Amino acid sequence: MRPSDAAVSGSRRRRAPRDSRVQDRSAWWQTAVFYEIATISFQDSDGDGKGDLAGLLSRLDYLEWLGIGAVWLTPIYPSPMLDLGYDISDFCDVHPEFGTLEQFDSLLEELHRRDVRLILDFVPNHTSDQHAWFTESRASCRNPKRDWYLWADPRPDGGSPNNWQSRFGGSAWQWDEQSGQYYYHSFLREQPDLNWRNAEVRTAMADVLRFWMRRGVDGFRVDASAVLAKDLLLRDNPPDPQAGESKPPPQRFRNIFTDDRPEAMAYLAEMREVIDEFENCVLCGEVQGKTDRIGHFYGHDKPRLHLPLNFVLLDSAWDAISLQGNIDAYLNAIPNKAWPDWVTGGHDKHRVASKLGPEQMRVLAMLVLTLRGTPFFYAGDELGMERVPIATDRITDPFEKLLPGYELNRDPERTAGKNGGFSEADPWLPMGPGIEKRNVETLKDDERSLLWLFKRLIALRRKEPALAVGAYIPVRSQNDVLSFKRADGDVAFLVALNLVHEPRRLAWDGEGTLLISSHLDDYHPALLRGPILLRPDEGLIIKLGR
Ligand code: NOJ
Ligand code: MG
Repeated sequence: MRPSDAAVSGSRRRRAPRDSRVQDRSAWWQTAVFYEIATISFQDSDGDGKGDLAGLLSRLDYLEWLGIGAVWLTPIYPSPMLDLGYDISDFCDVHPEFGTLEQFDSLLEELHRRDVRLILDFVPNHTSDQHAWFTESRASCRNPKRDWYLWADPRPDGGSPNNWQSRFGGSAWQWDEQSGQYYYHSFLREQPDLNWRNAEVRTAMADVLRFWMRRGVDGFRVDASAVLAKDLLLRDNPPDPQAGESKPPPQRFRNIFTDDRPEAMAYLAEMREVIDEFENCVLCGEVQGKTDRIGHFYGHDKPRLHLPLNFVLLDSAWDAISLQGNIDAYLNAIPNKAWPDWVTGGHDKHRVASKLGPEQMRVLAMLVLTLRGTPFFYAGDELGMERVPIATDRITDPFEKLLPGYELNRDPERTAGKNGGFSEADPWLPMGPGIEKRNVETLKDDERSLLWLFKRLIALRRKEPALAVGAYIPVRSQNDVLSFKRADGDVAFLVALNLVHEPRRLAWDGEGTLLISSHLDDYHPALLRGPILLRPDEGLIIKLGR
């Protein structure tokens, strides 16, 4: 047992779990609602305009009030911060701008005391070029850590070893004058890729996982898990005939020799073995996004990730027919016993409220909190935060700096919210228009707000096992209404979501009790008998039967 287990489970035992019936039958990560926080944008405590751990610690009442079950923190480690901290110079410490390891321990303890779990971002694919391992590796071709990174000789004409492109633009190979070879970087040139074929690298990274699990963290989100292994022969990626000029140059190739290689699957299985050395820890991961590949990331004989992150809802067209098709395609693509998950936002994705608008954002909240599978949302989504326009001189995202003009900028979704005052100082990215209304303090006072809708739905999901872990029973969607049932034993619910800004009729011949309308008012009678008239943009959850 890890040292902190006693403390952690001790504090959990003192508290009667609010949803004990569900918890008895499932793992915590199946029922918890996950909440992604980019520390830098959450709450500043020291007036430098950047969020930090002490700031986050001061806002835990809010997380508890909202009812979330697990926090995922984007990287908090020492870093030159060229890529939101995904360029890590020390995997086993905290960036001084965010705080200290002691503050991290206090944060973890306070979260656990409130029954909230914590997972960290684990970035196995690359380090910062400032990491001590890379300093050693680049020192000379004979350095014992040379093979920890991917080094290759130039082609006979002196050019880079092959045509592989960095995601952020340009060749993925960087010439190193001093040692006379190229090194490979999937992302920035300041983010050299580790060589996962090297067993010492795998052992060192396993020890990073153990370091944090011994401190008590409840698991990880694995960054870029699909690109861990690259072709040994360094073969060129073929051009993608379907990708036209409108795509950024790195996306005009079929990355078959750099992405989603079979070897990467073995490395994920190894990571999972390390996770399983500790009790109750979860491994989530950023995976190859195609639905037909997502099942493989769960593993077959040997388990890999518990929760390969699924972005189907974000990528889907927003209409009943597309959604029911995409939801079913995903559910059918994952292995029988695999547990689904649904991501509705993140630090790399356009804010979903900007795509859907405020009315349908409420429908999305009801959808993601009633589907079968673990919901992941991104801090600020519960406030309806939208993309914030960023003036050219304020751009920080390397994606936009290196590949301008392709709408790749991720700064608009990385701005701070306003938890009753994010910071005394100017925030590191500008806050968006509407922040006076779109903040926790204001929305908490309005019991019909989106924030309250999230809170009420999370509470309902915690109370009703059928909504958390029950079966998903599709109902034929009709007339712009997406509907499905959730059932557990003899308890069943009908969820009906009107996907358009006009009233819609739902032909339904059942009866039941209305538990909640996404409009959060008393418009409908408590007892409903089909057919039902849904108001524009309205979602309903009905408990079936008498
Ligand atoms: C995936 C992360 O989500 C993204 O933000 C980052 O830029 C890349 N990995 C590179 O680390
Ligand atoms: Mg700060």
